Amino acid sequence: PNHTGHEGHGTPAAGDSAAAVSCTELKEAEPAAGEPVRNFELTAAKTVLTLDNGKRTEAWTFNETSPGPELRVKEGERVKVTLANRDIGKGVTIHWHGVILPCSQDGVAGVTQDAVWPGEQFTYEFIARHPGTYWYHSHQQSSEQAGKGLVGRLIVEPKQSDFDYDLDYAVTLQMLNDKLKLTNGRTDGLRLDAAPGESVRLRLINAYSEVQWIGVAGAEFRVISIDGQVLNGPGAIREQWIPIGGGQRYDVLFTMPASGQVKVYSKEHKAWNIRLGSGPIPEPLSKDAPQFDFTNYGTPLADGITNDMKFDRVYDLKLGILDINGKKFHEIPPLLVKEGEWIKIRFKHTFGGPHPMHLHGHLFKILTKNGKPLTGSPIYADSVLLFSGEEYEVAFQANNPGLWMEHCHNLGHAANGMTMMVNYE
Ligand code: C2O
Ligand code: CU
Repeated sequence: PNHTGHEGHGTPAAGDSAAAVSCTELKEAEPAAGEPVRNFELTAAKTVLTLDNGKRTEAWTFNETSPGPELRVKEGERVKVTLANRDIGKGVTIHWHGVILPCSQDGVAGVTQDAVWPGEQFTYEFIARHPGTYWYHSHQQSSEQAGKGLVGRLIVEPKQSDFDYDLDYAVTLQMLNDKLKLTNGRTDGLRLDAAPGESVRLRLINAYSEVQWIGVAGAEFRVISIDGQVLNGPGAIREQWIPIGGGQRYDVLFTMPASGQVKVYSKEHKAWNIRLGSGPIPEPLSKDAPQFDFTNYGTPLADGITNDMKFDRVYDLKLGILDINGKKFHEIPPLLVKEGEWIKIRFKHTFGGPHPMHLHGHLFKILTKNGKPLTGSPIYADSVLLFSGEEYEVAFQANNPGLWMEHCHNLGHAANGMTMMVNYE
């Protein structure tokens, strides 16, 4: 590709390895096989938004809203999205965060495509193979463009219901222009309808860079998926905080109690509170409730990979102060993988704020946390959230050839150097 796009912080080492498979050599999109097609159009533009509190603010929007329209499709459908850029001067792209798709559709400016300049368009096309909660955002100068509003929700509904629920809501937690906390675009929190006895699947998407500590008051709940991938177990959870890192998604399931009120709320920010039902709002949980522990899940699923399996390659990535192994951007050698290999990555966070490490185009299996194997449900995710002092081992199968980014999804950190590539030999 001619690299006229630019990921805002020096294009990473995509082209540095001569042998790497480039996206444009790969098929543009999978050939149609009679699956239903869903067409969408998203126009990126500068807009003055009038918020629910009457205030006006400038934003960069998709179809004049931020977040952009919620795209809901069914598992197995072919998704075609035409992105047009009206007037975003530095160009835009759309990255389908968490979706496993061909590299050419991954939307990384300067790596998988050129940025879409004002007056231009680009059509993305992929099959929504994996049901779950995803989101989309511009991946041209992500930290600026996502921060100014170029984000939205993508929900892939399962063909066959994976859990039983009456209501399905998706919610974006967003920080617009570094100062406005929005819940699905609202400044004062969100109210959702749910009657006693109704079960609710709530899909929480953290489109902001900072970790959000989320609690649920008024009902027992269960986390049923992380990053769109179903968890098997455990039972109901009480009084535990769920830490949702930048870019991560957690789906929670609960039944509205007879009181008819449940509150899903952020530890720090009132604007990110979600009230379900009507009437008075239940008291929040105590501030010192224990942290959500995702090492303790129910029965493992059969998944063909065990903790002691042999890895073809092992990489150690030490997360420092906005660097990886003491290096930044293209100084960080790409992870070189061969198709079919199982790759293990050891992430070690030595010092500083949390890092949600995100991999494009693949799912990690989380193997260990601080040296201990995960005992419950396998956890597959497109990111792993590390707090200072923590160490995780994750594995993924190199089953999607191309050029893929691996970066911290605190987008400010990514823009300061915590950005590298995974390339196929
Ligand atoms: Cu939301 Cu490179 O990612
Ligand atoms: Cu980080």
